[in-house]
Amino acid sequence: MVFAMGERAQAFLDVSGVSSGYNRVPIVKNVSIQVALGEIVLIMGPNGAGKSTLIKAITGELPALTGHVSIDGVDVTSMGEEDRVNHGIGYVPQSKDVFPPLTVQENIEMGGYGFKGKDLKDREEEVFALFPQLLTSRRRAARTLSGGERKMLGIARALMARPRLLILDEPTANLAPLIAEKVLQGIVAGGAGAGRAVLLIEQRVSLGLEVASWGYILTDGQLKLDGSAEELRAIPDLGKLFLGRGTAGPVLSGSSGSSQ
Ligand SMILES: Nc1ncnc2c1ncn2[C@@H]1O[C@H](COP(=O)(O)OP(=O)(O)O)[C@@H](O)[C@H]1O
Ligand SMILES: [Mg+2]
Repeated sequence: MVFAMGERAQAFLDVSGVSSGYNRVPIVKNVSIQVALGEIVLIMGPNGAGKSTLIKAITGELPALTGHVSIDGVDVTSMGEEDRVNHGIGYVPQSKDVFPPLTVQENIEMGGYGFKGKDLKDREEEVFALFPQLLTSRRRAARTLSGGERKMLGIARALMARPRLLILDEPTANLAPLIAEKVLQGIVAGGAGAGRAVLLIEQRVSLGLEVASWGYILTDGQLKLDGSAEELRAIPDLGKLFLGRGTAGPVLSGSSGSSQ
């Protein structure tokens, strides 16, 4: 690591020496990252670097071959996905984050499964306040929404459970810049702004570093660099050096090598 990490707040999510992959072949190797409550932490890296694989090892979709994942001091490494959700993980995958045939309202209700009455209504109001444009589409099937609205719905659905840790895999992929900004604003307000820990994979490095406090760069399944957003923004050729592109500026990604 190039930068000292001493000044960071105590971790809520603590990933320590995690290797993970498919069919016991490690793709992600010995990765350690931390996210504190109230903080947005960014993971950057070129397509195929293993960002989604790392996230799956955190959510429990993939087992860790080495290392540990802790949430709020509890080791969840051997727990399945549902148990980790009960420990506070909310996950917005890159695709399959909504049920396309169901309406906006039904998707949101599914996110609030298990909650009832006034509690459920309060939660609904909370997420509609975050993304008011979902209110006007309340009765529409999710499959008829624009890409931006659909992503807002995916985030709203995850937030219904009021997760303490919100994990988002490339939420702005394929979105026009203004829409991407709106989606990120919702993540800031409903995530870190609401005291949650947020782990964000983001292709728009400049935009991401504006909202994040800390960033990690992953290449070939390994951490190459990490630092405060301020430190990373000051690196002139960040994109060129680590992310396999000409500039560190906003990039319309949509190019995800895998659709994971
Ligand atoms: N389901 C899978 N089975 C086998 N290999 C996979 C699978 N998904 C992704 N991979 C491989 O893992 C590597 C990292 O992929 P991924 O974590 O999706 O990268 P990123 O999210 O950074 O683009 C790639 O080489 C990819 O081909
Ligand atoms: Mg990915």
